[in-house]
Amino acid sequence: MNEIHGGDAAAHWDAAYAKGEDRVSWFQQDAGMSLRLIADLNPPVDAAIIDVGGGASPLAASLLSLGHTDITVLDLSRAALDAARAALGEQAHRITWLHGDLLALTSPRRYAIWHDRAVLHFLTDPPDQARYAELARNTIVPGGHVVIATFAPDGPERCSGLPVQRHDSRSLTELLGGAFTEVAHLREDHRTPSGATQHFTWFVARRT
Ligand SMILES: C[S@@+](CC[C@H](N)C(=O)[O-])C[C@H]1O[C@@H](n2cnc3c(N)ncnc32)[C@H](O)[C@@H]1O
Repeated sequence: MNEIHGGDAAAHWDAAYAKGEDRVSWFQQDAGMSLRLIADLNPPVDAAIIDVGGGASPLAASLLSLGHTDITVLDLSRAALDAARAALGEQAHRITWLHGDLLALTSPRRYAIWHDRAVLHFLTDPPDQARYAELARNTIVPGGHVVIATFAPDGPERCSGLPVQRHDSRSLTELLGGAFTEVAHLREDHRTPSGATQHFTWFVARRT
C-alpha cells in the first residue's frame, strides 16, 4: 500500500470504521448510483479511475468484476482500506491502494474518472475546497470526468460527528471552477443502516 501524508484525522475515521463498515451511516450494500453514473460515461475498461475517500466502499470490487483494470482507491483510514482489501481477498492486488490525505495527493498519475462519494462535503474551509478543485483540475485528463456525491442543501448538517458543507449543482460548479462543465446532476435519498434518510446531490462534470 502506498503512503501519502496523513494526519490525526485518520484516527477519527479509523474509529468510525471500528464499529463495522456495514454499520456506518454511509454504508451501502452496492454502489448502484456510482456504477450507473460511471457507466453513463462509457469508459473503456482500461480507463484510469480513482475513488477518493473510497473507504470500504464496494465500488472498486464492482468495477473490478465489470472488467475494469486500472482502479485506485485512496483513503485516510487504514482500517477502511484493510476492510476493503480483505473483502476482495486474492483480487485485492489488482487495485492500487493509496493511504493518506487526499489534499496531500501528489501523484504524477492522471485519471479519466475521479469518483468521490461523501468526502468533499467534509471540506468546509474555502482553502481546502480550493485545494480539492486544484487537485481535480490537475489530476483529471482533459475530457475526463468527476462523479461527486455530497449531502444536498436539505441533507444532514453533520456526518460522523463532523460538520459538512452541503451542496447543489450550482455550488459544486462554482467550487470546481472554470475547468469543468456540468454533464448531469440528480438527487438521491440514501437510507442509512439505522433507517434514516439522507438527501444527496450527485454531480457529473467534464474536465474541459
Ligand atoms: C462518509 S465516508 C464515505 C466512504 C466511501 N466513499 C463510501 O461511499 O462508502 C468518507 C470517507 O472519506 C475518508 N476521508 C475523509 N477525509 C479524507 C481526506 N482528507 N483524504 C482521504 N480520505 C478522507 C474517510 O476515511 C472515509 O472513508
